[in-house]
Amino acid sequence: MIILVMVIYKSWGNVMEGIFVSDFIQPVRERAHLPRRVYVFDTTLRDGEQTPGVCFTLEEKLEIAKKLDELGVDVIEGGFPINSEDELQAVKRMKDLGLRAKVCGLARCVIEDINACIKANVDRVHIFIATSDIHLKYKLRMNEEEALSQAIKCTEYVKMHGLECEFSCEDATRSPLERLIKFYKSVEECGADIHNVPDTVGVMEPEAMFNLIYELKKVLKKPISVHCHNDFGLAVANTLAGVKAGAEQVHTTVNGLGERAGNASVEQTITALFAMYRVNTGIKLSMLKETSKLVEKYSMIKLMPNFPIVGDNAFAHEAGIHVHGVLAKAESYEPLRPEMVGQTRRIVMGKHTGRHAVASFVKERFNLSDEKIKEVVDKVKKLAARKKKIIEEDVIAIVEEVMGALPEAEKIVRLDEALIITGNKITPTASVQIALGEGRRIAAGVGIGPVDAAAKAIQSAIGEEVKLLNYKLEAISGGTDSLCSVEVVLEDKNGRIARGLAVGGDIVMTSVNALLEGLNKIYRMYKRQ
Ligand code: KIV
Ligand code: ZN
Repeated sequence: MIILVMVIYKSWGNVMEGIFVSDFIQPVRERAHLPRRVYVFDTTLRDGEQTPGVCFTLEEKLEIAKKLDELGVDVIEGGFPINSEDELQAVKRMKDLGLRAKVCGLARCVIEDINACIKANVDRVHIFIATSDIHLKYKLRMNEEEALSQAIKCTEYVKMHGLECEFSCEDATRSPLERLIKFYKSVEECGADIHNVPDTVGVMEPEAMFNLIYELKKVLKKPISVHCHNDFGLAVANTLAGVKAGAEQVHTTVNGLGERAGNASVEQTITALFAMYRVNTGIKLSMLKETSKLVEKYSMIKLMPNFPIVGDNAFAHEAGIHVHGVLAKAESYEPLRPEMVGQTRRIVMGKHTGRHAVASFVKERFNLSDEKIKEVVDKVKKLAARKKKIIEEDVIAIVEEVMGALPEAEKIVRLDEALIITGNKITPTASVQIALGEGRRIAAGVGIGPVDAAAKAIQSAIGEEVKLLNYKLEAISGGTDSLCSVEVVLEDKNGRIARGLAVGGDIVMTSVNALLEGLNKIYRMYKRQ
């Protein structure tokens, strides 16, 4: 039996469910030349890797490529294979993953570059040659005719090998329009499949980008793509302007990585396309945050907290009046639901947050008497006077303190039995019997180590989705017989967070006890949702 699940975004006027953008966009949207579907060409692993200081290992590249594929991008520009044998092999390995997304390699309009892409077994070759006076004269030392004949020769070469060809006039936005038309039309006649228009130095602004793409659309038959750099902070705005003029493909990078000030960020571009212009892409918006986190980790470029959509502060609220408004009706201060982009709302308390806001925050989440709520509010206000920013975890710690230790009789989740096996030629395996309220659950799990296996078994026994956000193990004293302390931070599927702490002599059992404590706190402290 096939069950079709359709998510219907209720739409009336300018309001789509979960999206609360401005009514002033509607006439703009109606006047625009928006394509029905925009294709996403991700260049995190190529232009993104050109970010000063960024260098992904082979394993990291493959993991990012898999994540991008899951995210739903249409094309992954995996690298510049002529750069090195390692880069060529990385692109080849990406292709071997058998992803749904097409794998593309970058090549100058030089036959050896294209051969490297062919060797890497790519689906698409992205060839480029500069067309601005400054690049022709100082970089290529070619005249226009020489560059054009090189572009034609290379397009024919790519097509002769049965591959898709994406053609870019590098520094297009500082090249004369007639020259761009000449280049793009010529390669189109030789079979180029898509025309990319790079704003190589990030020198465009939205109206100019709109006009350029609009003019090119009039004369070209093949789809148009835009590739915008962020030198003036306009990469996303220029990309959107290109789409408004009819561009069918956008080049983006995760977290806006890229040369100098970076490229158009996939998070901002795609969310804006969807929320403001209702243009479809294949992107699963709810995976944006996790994809951003992965790339943040491997690129070692820390995302600014105020980075739109995926930054830590993008859905955080501090000022008292905002907290009050958000708790009463989230859209008062949120343009879209945080879950839509894989985010969670964070309430941050500062010294300006009023008692009322703190109290309603605590009341909304925790199962506490009025007297205990007052105690929590007093402590939060006291802490706020000393500390600039109080995050949800601080409030949780205060609630835990006010509630005191969890009496054994109040524990909802208890461990009856556990068998955990590990060794040198054995997959770490755990089986547990858990008492959950009145019932008993038995489950097993395997993991990369005994702690992971035990965590998986417990998760499977409780049957609810609980994520392990943080795990910290510390030896308290020296020696192999030392005590250890384990701290875990858990988050359940409703975004409720709790910490579990345990101390003991056995790392595995101490970890199990910390997990159980965290689970019990989620069950006890929070209101059911
Ligand atoms: O910015 C640029 O011009 C590029 C080209 C290789 C398309 O990244
Ligand atoms: Zn670029």
